[in-house]
Order: sequence, then structure tokens, then C-alpha cells
Amino acid sequence: MDLKLENQIVVVLGAAGGIGRAIAHRFLEEKCRVVLADRNDMVEQVAQELHQITGGDTLPVMLDVTKYDEVTALMDSVLTQWGALDHLIVAVGAGSGKFGDPFWNLSPVDWPAIVEQNLMSVVNAAHAAVPHMVPRCLGTMLFVSSVAGQIGSTTDPPYSAAKAAVINFGQCAARDLARHNIRVNILSPGMVKTGLNQLTHQAWQKMDPSRASVSYEDWAAEKIQRVTPLGRWQTPDNMADMAVFLASHRAANVTGQTLNVDGGQVMHA
Ligand SMILES: NC(=O)c1ccc[n+]([C@@H]2O[C@H](COP(=O)([O-])OP(=O)(O)OC[C@H]3O[C@@H](n4cnc5c(N)ncnc54)[C@H](O)[C@@H]3O)[C@@H](O)[C@H]2O)c1
Repeated sequence: MDLKLENQIVVVLGAAGGIGRAIAHRFLEEKCRVVLADRNDMVEQVAQELHQITGGDTLPVMLDVTKYDEVTALMDSVLTQWGALDHLIVAVGAGSGKFGDPFWNLSPVDWPAIVEQNLMSVVNAAHAAVPHMVPRCLGTMLFVSSVAGQIGSTTDPPYSAAKAAVINFGQCAARDLARHNIRVNILSPGMVKTGLNQLTHQAWQKMDPSRASVSYEDWAAEKIQRVTPLGRWQTPDNMADMAVFLASHRAANVTGQTLNVDGGQVMHA
């Protein structure tokens, strides 16, 4: 399928690993030019590796997405160096490191940092991108949320609540930006084997010493069989395939939608 994304400028926030890295890789395969941004300095090595693998133009940037001035500086430098911004992807995310079943295993003081990382990252990125995207009347935004934002997940309540807010803000942004021909969608992964997912297992283990012997693989296999109708992992590449499709003209009439790439975990009857 020809997605016609050649030479478009893409910013991926949260690109140092996991899903963000796979999304950056896939846009490079589509011959886009990709800014890889993350607070982890691994982002420089990842940008170099992806350049070597694909031959595409990569630009690594280290920043903390919770700091609005750092995000505006990033967008300004993309415009200065590459002249435009076509697609914004926010794949930043972090959990509390605690298992919230019940929710009072956490304390209210655990919440603000998680809301900052998962919700304000998206809000900051959208605000910083708008002045550059609106005058051109084209482009897309994609915010990575989670199945946890739709099902009252007991895993990590501040994370789930922030991801639910990402979906709601994505709908607000889609409505406001539609008149400027900019589409905004929300990608909702299910179970993907990444650093973030492994931390959830560690938080679950910490709750109860008897769980220490349950490996990540065994914990995940049981969970997948229990919650995922298709009974298998989702992969970073599955997310990347949906991300490039949504950015492309093939999805020209898709906006304000939450796309669950989750093996069927969330089904709204
Ligand atoms: N892995 C899963 O099973 C799963 C499921 C549902 C949703 N998600 C979501 O997918 C997205 C990608 O997560 P992942 O699983 O690839 O995890 P990951 O930990 O591999 O990637 C998250 C990236 O965000 C970066 N990051 C975190 N806070 C940041 C900040 N303040 N500034 C800049 N960068 C920051 C991290 O350094 C990391 O590189 C996240 O939004 C996550 O919530 C993941």
C-alpha cells in the first residue's frame, strides 16, 4: 500500500525505546525525516542506528516533555532545521511503579508526577505544535494512550486516569483542529513487551513476596490469556503500522478516534 509519506517531517516524542522507537523506524522506512526526542540519552544511539538501518534522516533531541519550554524549543528547532512539521507522535509514558489493586495501595502524592508524564506530555506537545501546523492547514497528531484508559484498570490508577484524559483531550484537539484540516487520533496499545510493561510486572511482584518466583513471561502469559481475546502479545511493530496508516492520506477521513491495537481486549458493545 503506497502511503505517500515521502519527505514528510515527523516528530516522535518518547523515541528512545519500545513503541516510540518502532514508530520512528517505520516512518523512516516510509522515507520520512524523523526527529527522535526523549529524556533518555539512548535516543542519540537509537537515531544513529535507525539512520544506519534505513538511510533516512534522523535528528535526536534530549528533552523532558513535562517541561513546556523544552517542548516549544524543540518545535522551533525543527522548523529552523527542517522547515516544517507534518506529523506529531506522542509516545511518552510512565507508570507509578506501584500496583494499584486496590487504588489505596497508592497515595494521592503518587498522582501528580504520573499525570505530568502521561497527560501533560501530550498537552505540552499539542500546544507547542499548533502554531507551526495551523498556518499550513495540514498534518496529523497521534497520542498514545492505553487500554487502561478505557476499562477502569486496577493496575495503576493514576496512569489509567491520565490515559483516559489523553483520549478526551485528543477528541477536543481533533474537533478544534478539524477546521484547519489537521487530524488527531489516539492509539491504544494492549500488551506490548517493553520496559514500561516489565515495570508493571515488578510492581505486581512487590505487592506480595510469594510472587517473587513468578517470571515476567509467566505473569504476562497468564494475563494475556485472561484479558486478550486473540490470546497473544501485541508488538511495537503493530503500533507502528497503525501510526503510519493514520498519518497517511489513506486515513484522510479518520479523526478523533481511539484505535485499539489490543488483540480485542477493549470492545465497546
Ligand atoms: N507497553 C505496553 O504494554 C503499553 C500498553 C499501553 C500503552 N502503552 C503506552 O505506549 C507508549 C510507549 O510506551 P512503551 O511501552 O514503549 O514504554 P517505554 O518505557 O519503552 O517508552 C516510553 C518512553 O518515554 C520516555 N519518557 C518518559 N517520560 C518522559 C519525559 N518526561 N520526557 C521525555 N521522554 C520521556 C522514556 O524515556 C521512554 O523512552 C506510552 O505512552 C505507554 O503508556 C504501552
